[in-house]
Amino acid sequence: MWLLILLYALLAIVLLIVGLITYARWNFGTLEKQGFTVVKPDHFLLGSAALTFEKPGGLLDIELMKKYGPVFGLYEGREPQIFICDADLIKKITVKDSDHFDSKRALDFGDPVFNELLDFQPLEKWRIMRSMFMPTVNSSLRLRNSNPAMNAAIADYISDIKDKIAKSGKNKVEKYALNENIYATVTEIIARSQFSISIGKSDFSNRIVQIIKTLMTPPGAEDSSLAIYTYAFPFVKKFLPNTMINPEPLKEFVSIIKQLMNERRKQGRQMEENKNFVDFCIEWYDNLDDPEWKKNNITESTIWNFGLIAFMAGQDQISLILPVMMLYVSENPELEKKLHDEIDKVFSKTNGKIEHETLFDFPLVTSCIYEASRLYPFFFRNERVCTKDWEDKERGIQIKKGQVVQISIWGTSRNPEYFEDPEEFKAERFLAKNKDKINPYAYTSFGSGPRNCIGKKYAMEMMLLLVVQLMREFRFVRRSDTELKFIPAGPFFGMHEPIYFDVVSRNEKNEE
Ligand code: HEM
Repeated sequence: MWLLILLYALLAIVLLIVGLITYARWNFGTLEKQGFTVVKPDHFLLGSAALTFEKPGGLLDIELMKKYGPVFGLYEGREPQIFICDADLIKKITVKDSDHFDSKRALDFGDPVFNELLDFQPLEKWRIMRSMFMPTVNSSLRLRNSNPAMNAAIADYISDIKDKIAKSGKNKVEKYALNENIYATVTEIIARSQFSISIGKSDFSNRIVQIIKTLMTPPGAEDSSLAIYTYAFPFVKKFLPNTMINPEPLKEFVSIIKQLMNERRKQGRQMEENKNFVDFCIEWYDNLDDPEWKKNNITESTIWNFGLIAFMAGQDQISLILPVMMLYVSENPELEKKLHDEIDKVFSKTNGKIEHETLFDFPLVTSCIYEASRLYPFFFRNERVCTKDWEDKERGIQIKKGQVVQISIWGTSRNPEYFEDPEEFKAERFLAKNKDKINPYAYTSFGSGPRNCIGKKYAMEMMLLLVVQLMREFRFVRRSDTELKFIPAGPFFGMHEPIYFDVVSRNEKNEE
């Protein structure tokens, strides 16, 4: 009798194991049948999922592109994914046939406010949300109105560096973590230009800066060894700590937005032409009864999430792109001189007043920013989900409804077919006289098509102002420990170690 029970128990265990293995491997083999070259899985259950935890995703994509070509497939656990580093295909998928690829994966961040992230909403809700958010950052009027607040925040940042130089006794700030300081300064620029508040000194340890930083650093992310198995068995996620976001600082952040809205209501709203993000939040809040919004589940949480997007607008990207630009400029005195000349010429023409329109007068600075963002664009991939079966007869490939397409930003930007000497920093590629040679779908750092980045203009405004004001005053000098070292952190973006420079005053150098 006992033997029989034992036998049944053993049989059940064997069946369970076989069932789990079959479940995890269910989709293996599908991509090959659809015409794709597939990355050889390095794990019998996880496919290639572990790769992005071993190596930063962007660098991995470049490696895979070199090995498998510009279009390949891989199995991220049980999910087949198609990787694209081919500009013509990117155009087809994100623009021409975008109605076949009009979604991203509905990611569950384990938090009702975070789950409202625009990128991951169903189509109709995404459309409404995109048109709600767009005017807050994308109009020339908003950019023009934001300019004084942005300049004021940067002026304070510059005087803070000057103080540090003065106090150093060495005419320089040594081992200055440029990325961390830019992160904090961008937060202050956003606070002033979008919310009309100051978070105080642009210091990385500032409470608001830390809230934003820790949001993306959930306690569960430390240990990825178990999380990795959720790629093979997604249902296990429910039993694991949140590895996507940190909900505690989010609550604090929501209460700040509510407080700002209450204060604005008491003070009275800004006139239409001067309104900023807080006014937009109030307008949205007062419109929550709109039947279309109700039907599409636009709620308070949507507004708090918008507040979050507006406050977390580009810190991580800008604090990588600008230090990367300085890395290349600091090793190229000729380029540095040309940039200084361009900046000085404009400053002398405008008496140092850099308005929104003045920013069009810095073609070389602009090209350097684009080139830095081409090489190190922070996000690894622009994702699309196929919503209707699709076929490219010319290439002999098929993409099935429900499958995930990853447009590899890093891979495409380093594809030698589109960029000569792709690993080299050549800002002149983006100058007006050469720009026609660039395939617009090969530079995907801000995405493409109807789901492209809403904040590109706002981000460019912040980056240009920061670079011209900083380079007008200082030089960023490489040190023996200056390096760009990425930390593997999952499949979405490129975390890295601090990027150190010595900061010296330009006047100091000129007087030498
Ligand atoms: C240098 C800074 C930035 C970079 C490199 C960047 C990059 C990107 C990329 C690659 C995407 C995905 C595009 C696609 O899938 O085709 C995106 C989407 C988005 N970005 Fe940015 N971004 C930056 C700054 C900003 C800022 C400042 C804001 C807001 C104020 C912003 C708001 C958004 C939003 C809301 C989306 C989702 C759009 C949608 O799904 O419809 N971004 N961004």
